[in-house]
Amino acid sequence: MSVNISIENVVKKYGSNTVIHNLTLNISDGELFTLLGPSGCGKTTLLRMIAGFNSIEEGTIKFDDRVINDIPANKRNIGMVFQNYAVFPHMTVKENVEYGLKVRKLSKSEIDKRVNEMLKLVKMQEFKDRFPEMLSGGQQQRVALARAIVIRPDVLLMDEPLSNLDAKLRIEMRSAIRDIQKEVGITTVYVTHDQEEALAISDRIAVIKEGTVQQVDRPYNIYARPENVFVATFIGHSNLFNGNILLKGDKKLIQFSSGYKIELNNLPPDVSEGQRVIVGVRPEEFIPADDGLKAKIKKRVFLGRYIEYELLFPEGIALPNQPTLKFSQDVGKTNIIFNEGDVICLKVNEEKINIFTENGMHNLVKDVMPV
Ligand SMILES: Nc1ncnc2c1ncn2[C@@H]1O[C@H](COP(=O)(O)OP(=O)(O)OP(=O)(O)O)[C@@H](O)[C@H]1O
Ligand SMILES: [Mg+2]
Repeated sequence: MSVNISIENVVKKYGSNTVIHNLTLNISDGELFTLLGPSGCGKTTLLRMIAGFNSIEEGTIKFDDRVINDIPANKRNIGMVFQNYAVFPHMTVKENVEYGLKVRKLSKSEIDKRVNEMLKLVKMQEFKDRFPEMLSGGQQQRVALARAIVIRPDVLLMDEPLSNLDAKLRIEMRSAIRDIQKEVGITTVYVTHDQEEALAISDRIAVIKEGTVQQVDRPYNIYARPENVFVATFIGHSNLFNGNILLKGDKKLIQFSSGYKIELNNLPPDVSEGQRVIVGVRPEEFIPADDGLKAKIKKRVFLGRYIEYELLFPEGIALPNQPTLKFSQDVGKTNIIFNEGDVICLKVNEEKINIFTENGMHNLVKDVMPV
């Protein structure tokens, strides 16, 4: 049976160093929920708290209505898959998968039934008598997954399960994990620092920075309407510009520091004349035009499906200290390709861009296109 996981105001400290700060999350029954954030933000720490390998200094973690803080790891009925294939090298595929059932002393016929079902699910029947050293990385990871699920855990925890695999296999495996997780319906907490993987696989994502939750939402919303500048720049690329709000009758405009103005109809009513904002524009939200923001093309990179240009803007237009400013062109939709050194004009797609408060802490735009 899968469960709902409530994490309420939990705190984790290593000595005097607080790694998880008053963190609250609710993970629904059957959901594939991803923790995403930079290295060291506390993803593994939080997963280990759910698993029972880390103490919980404050707050509670519940599976449904049951507080699990003091329940030992081996009594929490959790399946786990980690980065380093957790398969036993001296056991065959079949022996690996049946191990947890033997420990639980199930009958031979029940064990055989469940192991066969599971090997079928992860498409490993034909390899059941092989030892792990005779399997590819992806196949080993399938065995690890089968071994974690076969015990019918309440919760499945996965910590970067695909990071040892090559790019192509990672994509194949993430799709397999998604399918298997949906078929079995186990509440799953998935950890990755690969944002594309997170967007592809998750029902919802929590973006974490330094042990605090920045945003919890469905993948599309996280990308389209990031809650703050951190999320906007951590998930995908965002170019950041200085801007201020102008009010003209019923109309609300954003003025860039170059003087370029656009009208927006998705700002809240309480914005004020002259209010300073940060404008977030993703590379694909620029549109070449006769007027707009003037930029010089510093570099052009052909990436197959699209061309990515590195841009230079006049002083004061963009926020300082950004790694690069980028514009991307969908190759399938254009015949005009710019050259390094060209000076071009770019409009922005008003419906897609994001407007953040001056301190970068909140997005003023809330609407999201339905998907
Ligand atoms: N046993 C420990 N003792 C002291 N500090 C620790 C311990 N384990 C982790 N930390 C610290 O806690 C913080 C969070 O670590 P954690 O492993 O949870 O990060 P992470 O988000 O999983 O990062 P990564 O993406 O690199 O795996 C880091 O600053 C780390 O140095
Ligand atoms: Mg980690």
